[in-house]
Amino acid sequence: MPLLKSVATLTQAEVLRIAWPGSKIVRSLCGHREAFNIRFATYGTAFVTIGNCSEILNVSQSNKKMNSKELGLVLGQQLLGVDDLHYGLWTDDLPLGFANLAEAQQRYTEQIINALPAADGGETCQQTRVIDIGCGTGHILAQLLERGFAADGLVPAPRLAEQVRRRLAAHNDKPTRLFESTFEQFPADEHRACYDAALFSESYQYIPMSASFPILAQIVKPGGLVVICDFFKTGHAGDGQPGDKSFGGGHKMHQFYIELGKHPFSLLEDIDITRQVSPNIKLLDETLMLRLVPAGQTLDRYLRENYPRTWKLIKTVFKIFFGKKIEKQKYKYFTGHRTQAVFERYKTYRLLVLRRNA
Ligand SMILES: C[S@@+](CC[C@H](N)C(=O)[O-])C[C@H]1O[C@@H](n2cnc3c(N)ncnc32)[C@H](O)[C@@H]1O
Repeated sequence: MPLLKSVATLTQAEVLRIAWPGSKIVRSLCGHREAFNIRFATYGTAFVTIGNCSEILNVSQSNKKMNSKELGLVLGQQLLGVDDLHYGLWTDDLPLGFANLAEAQQRYTEQIINALPAADGGETCQQTRVIDIGCGTGHILAQLLERGFAADGLVPAPRLAEQVRRRLAAHNDKPTRLFESTFEQFPADEHRACYDAALFSESYQYIPMSASFPILAQIVKPGGLVVICDFFKTGHAGDGQPGDKSFGGGHKMHQFYIELGKHPFSLLEDIDITRQVSPNIKLLDETLMLRLVPAGQTLDRYLRENYPRTWKLIKTVFKIFFGKKIEKQKYKYFTGHRTQAVFERYKTYRLLVLRRNA
């Protein structure tokens, strides 16, 4: 059995793996909570194991189920072959097309990095410490390190965390930490006033606002910044018009301002970049309707013609078990409502910069 001890007493070098409840290793150790002095409050409900590393890695990786959000992100990344999981910033001089997607995404990244304080800390001459919350594949995190920031990442999705770890291996000369948890579970009391800036690049929408603000208020230094680049729901959301519900996600914009008013932050910048990111929808919509739909139809025809009974049976079983879900996804993706204009009606994409009040 691997050696376990309190998370709080581990040094950074000792932390080899965090295993989550539900995985085999956690179940097998549950009876030994007291004996091994595992602190449940730390890293949410995660267990940190040290020693016997490779064995533990295999067990926990193969037992952590992938959820639908993670599936969407990983599939999207694999299909598009990109490093970033955020939209692109399509300025007028950049023609819309897959060939320019990586460039558009990099422009988006540049905009975010420019909104952060200077890497060298300006007058204080102390390296600026940033946490990239929901850091995806770690592409922005790596760029922050390359540009001289002291940067940590946080990502709850195990497959993405694996990619981040691989990327960080090239930066093992720099002090950086990867937290594998949701932001809601971040151990804020252990990182009080630790960061000069907190960054959310298209990840803010996944985290309940009421949970994120109190944590941010603890971990961001007085005078420090929170940079959020993400989309929010406009006042049209829920109007029942065709296209409503075609795009999921996003907090309600007006509720964001209400929530902000309850916490010690001031709004420094609020830039509407919807028109620069919405061309991304056009690009993806065209791919979906012009390539994936015909490809699906071809496959359907082939199976229908060659395996009529089996194919009919599979479709019937799917309909019985997943009928509602399938209809919802069909409405979302295949009714032609997922367009740039619909996105612009129901979502507003913002670059928000907040300052932690002193
Ligand atoms: C659309 S991706 C953006 C990734 C990356 N920031 C980028 O710009 O490429 C959303 C990210 O949010 C993360 N995420 C989802 N739920 C989260 C939560 N509750 N707390 C923190 N991150 C979360 C996902 O794992 C993923 O890394």
